[in-house]
Amino acid sequence: MHHFTYRNDRLFAEEVDLTALADAVGTPFYVYCEATLRRHLRIFADAFADTDTLIAYSVKASSNISVLKVLASEGAGADVVSAGELHRALIAGVAPRKIVFSGVGKTRDELSFALDANIYQFNVESEPELIALDEIAQTKGLRAPIALRINPDVAAGAHENISTGKSEDKFGVPWSRARALYATARAMKGVEIKGVDVHIGSQIDDLAPFEAAFKKIAVLINDLRADGCTIERLDLGGGLGIPYGEGATPPHPQAYAQMIKQVTASLGVQLIFEPGRMIAGNAGALVARVIYIKDGASRRFIILDAGMNDLMRPALYDAYHELWPVVKDNNKASEDYDVVGPICESTDRFAKARTLPRQNTGDLIAIMSAGAYGASQTSQYNTRPLIPEILVSGGRYAIIRKRPTLDEMMDGEAIADWLR
Ligand code: LLP
Repeated sequence: MHHFTYRNDRLFAEEVDLTALADAVGTPFYVYCEATLRRHLRIFADAFADTDTLIAYSVKASSNISVLKVLASEGAGADVVSAGELHRALIAGVAPRKIVFSGVGKTRDELSFALDANIYQFNVESEPELIALDEIAQTKGLRAPIALRINPDVAAGAHENISTGKSEDKFGVPWSRARALYATARAMKGVEIKGVDVHIGSQIDDLAPFEAAFKKIAVLINDLRADGCTIERLDLGGGLGIPYGEGATPPHPQAYAQMIKQVTASLGVQLIFEPGRMIAGNAGALVARVIYIKDGASRRFIILDAGMNDLMRPALYDAYHELWPVVKDNNKASEDYDVVGPICESTDRFAKARTLPRQNTGDLIAIMSAGAYGASQTSQYNTRPLIPEILVSGGRYAIIRKRPTLDEMMDGEAIADWLR
């Protein structure tokens, strides 16, 4: 559920009229409903209310500091994958004891920064990373709290580009080497084993792959304990899908929680989760304006002022996003359109043969469910400025990332001295 609704045929984000907002801030822009962010976090937290749980929101999904602040105020921690995300989380006021650090390629500088920040857990993904972390921590006279991310060799995820739990994926420690690597870690002075970590993919709309992976991990925990490891925590990653409107009905967090409680009941561990999309996805929309309607040889195109640089998901994963007219006119006939952006790439397309009420130049379209992996994946390709992010709360709104001017976009560039 989200807080985008029509009032007298005009689309509102909470109490804010998106037509007026578009006039005030210019298009295209991202808009997030604070109420939805809070609601989704609470739904997730409530599902695990009777369990010792840390919900570490996956910052990569939507990383604006204001978004992080909203979630931190609800008690969320953060799952970060870079020094940049860690810096954001700290600025937003997320307590270091609620921050976990994931990712296959943490640099020594990043490990060092996170050690200094005294974070809760490093999710280590390889032997060389373990060795580096041990070394760096020892130099500092510290012990890094770790979990090893285990690759359970289970296929999951709506699209092969977002599946991470198969043995051929780059993620995690191979299942067959897990016990040996824990034994290595146990002998290290710079790391302290705290738990086990697993994350199998994203936009998963079925409990079966989760259950298969988590059952394997439960067996591993018992094996590790038999080997003499102390395992107090189990990080189950993120990955729960959301309804994008294309017919899929992902499991409710309650059902997800019930399955997990069953699988982990006898383990006596703290559970850590890293949900991203489930929290932010339906909290956000991208609002764009129709620049032209163009008749091609065989198709009619809506050319928007937003492009694939503003929302990569359709181009990268063939992702489906609902398109809602910001002003509804029920008298308008429907037409089939290819909805595209202005970028010089054929993949710059938000929808193919989509039936919409007839559109005209100047009309506004909301690309729905764009709150996760939308703004956080933007680029300046074609030298287009990063688009603003707007946070709505009730009837108020705030620009939480501004649109840079053309000069600001080029700020970091310099002309080589021999070209001056
Ligand atoms: N934890 C780890 C270690 C992850 O790699 C991810 C996402 C998450 C948690 C959060 O997963 P979520 O709950 O959001 O599914 N850009 C793609 C999705 C990439 C997911 C990357 N990892 C998309 O737009 O669909």
